Amino acid sequence: MYEITRHPVSEAVRQRAHLTDEDYLRLYRQSIEQPQQFWGEQASAFLDWFKPWDSVCQGVMQQGTATWFAGGKLNVAYNCIDRHLSARAEQVAFIWEGDEPNESKKITYRELHDKVCRLANLLKSRGINKGDRVCIYMPMIPEAAFAMLACARIGAVHSVVFGGFSPDSLRDRILDSDCRAVITADEGVRGGKRIPLKNNVDKALSECPKVTTVVMVERTGAAVGFCEGRDLRYASALQTVPADCPPEWMDAEDPLFILYTSGSTGKPKGVLHTTGGYLLQVAMTHKYIFDYHEGDIFWCTADVGWVTGHSYIVYGPLANGAISLIFEGVPNYPDCSRFWQVVDKHQVNIFYTAPTALRALMREGDQPVKKTSRQSLRLLGTVGEPINPEAWEWYFNVVGQRRCPIVDTWWQTETGAIMIAPLPGATELKPGSATRPFFGVQPLLLDEQGKEIEGEGSGVLAIRASWPSQIRSVFGSPQRMLETYFSAYPGYYFTGDGARRDEDGYWWITGRIDDVINVSGHRIGTAEVESALVLHEAVAEAGVVGYPHDIKGQGIYAFVTLMATVQPSDALKKELTALVGKEIGNFSKPDLIQWASALPKTRSGKIMRRILRKIACNELETLGDTSTLADPSVVDGLIEKRLNR
Ligand code: WTA
Repeated sequence: MYEITRHPVSEAVRQRAHLTDEDYLRLYRQSIEQPQQFWGEQASAFLDWFKPWDSVCQGVMQQGTATWFAGGKLNVAYNCIDRHLSARAEQVAFIWEGDEPNESKKITYRELHDKVCRLANLLKSRGINKGDRVCIYMPMIPEAAFAMLACARIGAVHSVVFGGFSPDSLRDRILDSDCRAVITADEGVRGGKRIPLKNNVDKALSECPKVTTVVMVERTGAAVGFCEGRDLRYASALQTVPADCPPEWMDAEDPLFILYTSGSTGKPKGVLHTTGGYLLQVAMTHKYIFDYHEGDIFWCTADVGWVTGHSYIVYGPLANGAISLIFEGVPNYPDCSRFWQVVDKHQVNIFYTAPTALRALMREGDQPVKKTSRQSLRLLGTVGEPINPEAWEWYFNVVGQRRCPIVDTWWQTETGAIMIAPLPGATELKPGSATRPFFGVQPLLLDEQGKEIEGEGSGVLAIRASWPSQIRSVFGSPQRMLETYFSAYPGYYFTGDGARRDEDGYWWITGRIDDVINVSGHRIGTAEVESALVLHEAVAEAGVVGYPHDIKGQGIYAFVTLMATVQPSDALKKELTALVGKEIGNFSKPDLIQWASALPKTRSGKIMRRILRKIACNELETLGDTSTLADPSVVDGLIEKRLNR
């Protein structure tokens, strides 16, 4: 066992911080005991409303009827842009750092207002109205954020699809949420490579007849297909519309966005978030957990295609009038000093990234870090997967020079905003622990029978009561939300994560306990990878599980049974890997493929993934009971040929 060192709050951090430990304890108690009063006060303090709400929080979370600030009217783009103009029109809103180190630019709040209003008007001119869905399939350029805010301004619901997804995945998402427009770029640029976004869109749209508008940002100027009547070139089209677009008054419970995420079963779910509660919790957590102060430069390295980019590149920071950095590139291009060079170049104060990136950089040694200054850094954060204490200590000692607290933030697409994390001025840190719940969040531990575990212990992580930025629905299927999150453990929100609570009441998230694999912080459903594999005519059956991976956190291990007439070969492995890349996206390619003459199944024919997982993780002593298998001898064959020894 790794010895855990406690890191108390330093005097310098405490003095600067918005909140002390006494503040945390007092406000947390108030948030639980008097939620109506607490959240009402916060909503007035953090957001501008056109009309006050009728009730702070109503309805029953478990029945899918929870509402926050219903009846209240506001607009997210107004809160993120317009209301800052009187005081900080000339302040930078976004710093953009391109893939190449010589490319960067700054966008002020005034420029942001202009761009967002014009794009909003352009969408309106194409018949996009309040409630319509717009797909955003973009590289990491400022226009991705403009597009989100333009939708929010007119009440259109955006569905951002990560640029790493394949044309087929893009098509499925466009169809599922019935999008009428797509905003994209000719190409993306990442780590010196080009990504054919517009070509992917064209492929996807060949099966999406209802999409009548494509707005294309010219990022590289590459020659790409252009469909007259449907396609518009962003820069020239913006010049044809007025620069003023009054914001739509939205109800706090009107939808803001849909974001697809993988679950245990079936197709990815369109997680639906609404307006008021979401914006409040992202703004509050951004201010308090990152201890954001006026003028600080905040850099979240996530992609806007994931929830972290939504909440902590765009909405949280902008609601607070912050300066947010958008990075187009990757940590190791042109070399593995890049993150720290960008920190120095733009004098970043707060830096938020994923453990997988830290582990990859840690492997390169300290030199690439130490040759940069990093004196501007004041606070570090992590998200997306458990951070191992070794990586935490490296982040703290080497990157942060023992000066910067680390906030390990646990949350999910479904929670919308951070749920468990330290407050820098208040919380003693323990490497690997997300520490304590944010205001209003009531985590609890359940055993397998759904009974609450008190005090210290390990179990299933669940949440007791609604919080403002919680998922409101699965788009098109409210029933699926109830089944996925509120039926496994009746009465609670089920997170899909396992956790431990220690003697101080601190939370340690141990990872997914369902059939979701977390690869480099990307959520991948085993069922999705299996469906892709069995599309190949040589494949009879596939069983996919996660296994521990030094850099990625988890890797993808596929057990594949071939058709009786097919000979296994390395060439076939390559074909299968490529097929998964084509079907879902390159980030979901299996790391290991083991040929299996058969898969372990129950007598009713269900694949026993628990056993496959044990084999893939090389945990043979704890295989458990195999006597219920239709043919227990299958397991010995798999063990003998296992790849991950
Ligand atoms: C995992 C990302 C441990 C967890 C914001 C969760 C974490 C899933 C942490 C959600 C953390 C996220 N420590 N595990 N600090 N943060 N996770 O929806 O398994 O992409 O359920 O949202 O990531 O991933 P998602």
